[in-house]
Amino acid sequence: MEQKNKIISSINRTRITSDKVNLSVSVSKIKKDTHSLSKMYDFKKYMDSSDMAFPEEMHEMIPKDTPPYLDNGEHYVERIGRALKFFKQCALIGPSGTGKTHIVYLVAELAGLPIWEINCGLATSVFDLFGRYVGLGKENWIDGLITGWCRKGGILYLDEANMMKQDVATKLNPLLDQRGHMVLTEKDSEIIHRHKHAYMIISMNPVSSEFAGTKPINAAMRRRMSVWLNFDYMSIGENIDEKEIKMVSERGGISLSDAECIVKIGARLRKEYKMGDLPYGPSIGDLVNWAKICSDGASIAEGGDETLVPMTSDDQEVQNEVRQIIKKVLQIKTIIKTL
Ligand SMILES: Nc1ncnc2c1ncn2[C@@H]1O[C@H](COP(=O)(O)OP(=O)(O)O)[C@@H](O)[C@H]1O
Ligand SMILES: [Mg+2]
Repeated sequence: MEQKNKIISSINRTRITSDKVNLSVSVSKIKKDTHSLSKMYDFKKYMDSSDMAFPEEMHEMIPKDTPPYLDNGEHYVERIGRALKFFKQCALIGPSGTGKTHIVYLVAELAGLPIWEINCGLATSVFDLFGRYVGLGKENWIDGLITGWCRKGGILYLDEANMMKQDVATKLNPLLDQRGHMVLTEKDSEIIHRHKHAYMIISMNPVSSEFAGTKPINAAMRRRMSVWLNFDYMSIGENIDEKEIKMVSERGGISLSDAECIVKIGARLRKEYKMGDLPYGPSIGDLVNWAKICSDGASIAEGGDETLVPMTSDDQEVQNEVRQIIKKVLQIKTIIKTL
């Protein structure tokens, strides 16, 4: 479906200048596809995109053609919808590559909400986030991302929220109450009330001894998050999810048995990552990319050498560890085959 939508939107773009009749036909097809996505989730009871109205210039901030989010009956999409409806905000916890960003985009698409995305781990200044003067005089004020979200609404997605700098956290706190507001001290102390459709989702890695380098989230923010959803890899260690195998096979264009092998390797690497023995755990997207290389004729080992091995680390020793894991799973596969 993703592919189909992409094709349709590229057809769409080329026809904009030439043929208005064809354009309207392809637009209705897109609507139909978005509609089928909304049929997959029982989301409307929490948030309805037809209740949302945003100015034209914000439309391109609303995600489109987001692939479905697969889970094992946890109903994450609906639970995020419920949290946003009841509390306006929620927190997603899980190691990287477990689909947190993906699901935020999906929820935004289903709800018809624009996304304002900030990675708190990057060196983003208070000025970028809240605003600044770019010249003399009041008219030369430019809103930062958080200020823009507060005024205009949408989903503010704060990734790696536990890495947020203290000066940003302090300014954000008054906004975290449901009917919060912000005071722009830099701009005549203007008071901006939180837009009625201004939702916030924060995400982070779990804080545990397993994850070196993570720190707990700021206490004020923790108190104001009523709902916390835990995410994990679909397959991990010896626990292999058939749906992940199917997805890697379909998206990567390889056989189910090769996909099973790649997922089993990925699951082992993730376990090592969670135990702190490897610096990276592969996402399903990484496994699909590996599969794509194999679909072009490379063996699983060759594909791994070009994708996951160097992706995990630059360190030769770590790379060899990954190669060993790949080798072990491939050996098991050959043994099973010869039985
Ligand atoms: N449950 C899932 N269903 C569909 N795609 C998933 C799922 N989990 C992860 N992915 C895919 O894995 C990749 C990494 O996901 P991402 O959202 O960036 O993870 P995170 O934000 O947790 O680090 C993306 O390509 C995403 O589409
Ligand atoms: Mg992410």
